[in-house]
Amino acid sequence: MLSLKISELTKTYANGTVALERINFTTEPGEGIVLLGANGSGKSTLLRCILGLEAATSGEIWLEGKQLSRLNSRQLRKMRSQIGMVFQKFHLVGSLSAFHNVLHGALGRSTSPRYWFPATAPTKERKRAMECLERVNLAHLAQQRADTLSGGQQQRVAIARTLMQNPQLILVDEPVASLDPQAGKEVMDLLWSIVREQQLTVICTLHQLEIAKQYGDRIIGLRGGKIQLDTAIDRLTEKDLTMLYQSSQNLSQTQIQDRANVHSSPTG
Ligand SMILES: Nc1ncnc2c1ncn2[C@@H]1O[C@H](COP(=O)(O)OP(=O)(O)O)[C@@H](O)[C@H]1O
Ligand SMILES: [Mg+2]
Repeated sequence: MLSLKISELTKTYANGTVALERINFTTEPGEGIVLLGANGSGKSTLLRCILGLEAATSGEIWLEGKQLSRLNSRQLRKMRSQIGMVFQKFHLVGSLSAFHNVLHGALGRSTSPRYWFPATAPTKERKRAMECLERVNLAHLAQQRADTLSGGQQQRVAIARTLMQNPQLILVDEPVASLDPQAGKEVMDLLWSIVREQQLTVICTLHQLEIAKQYGDRIIGLRGGKIQLDTAIDRLTEKDLTMLYQSSQNLSQTQIQDRANVHSSPTG
């Protein structure tokens, strides 16, 4: 269980787009966070900054109490190997089997070429890869090429590959956006049951409100790159959610005044 602290994180892209503006939050170990927001609100940018795929413009990220910008590259690699990532478009190698893709999840532990191929990988790792596939109920399709699996099955292989990594923190970016509703529900149910049983800290982005309300402990809502909402899921109100999706042009004068009051109040 990895603790994560984000402090004043800002990301401005080279073209001047401010994707994130002064983001602050801390996760509790084992906490399930849903990061909710309309398209373009900055969700993917935030996950990419945490994983180091994107450099923050300013602000700081702490993992396990360590400030990432102060680590050397070897320490950083070790720290990041504890973070698993699941993407909207699965990112599997289509020409390889499901089993082979899952095995590659071990590459964060060792860069030895032995790990590249099922025939040369250590027995222990092959056994583990099979267990991960079993956990996502796909052991029977282990030898099938990834690009011949359905979308839902491919996402389950991607989850198994992440488990293979033994992550402490999982970042999940729009896991169901490429799936039909039924497959999406199966993937979400499976993902969250694994997260709970292994007590993993998870940050899962979603843009669909209806799905967001059903999973996790806490919702962080982004709007235009800023945190608009940060609340326990069971305390979420319809009003919170409406605000999140309303464009600023649509806010009434009263709502703008309301928000100004909230933001200027010392306790708010
Ligand atoms: N590589 C990039 N270069 C410039 N702007 C980008 C880049 N990636 C994302 N953006 C912009 O940053 C904002 C946030 O994007 P993103 O993080 O992808 O949002 P979300 O995942 O919530 O849809 C958007 O305005 C988007 O157009
Ligand atoms: Mg996105």
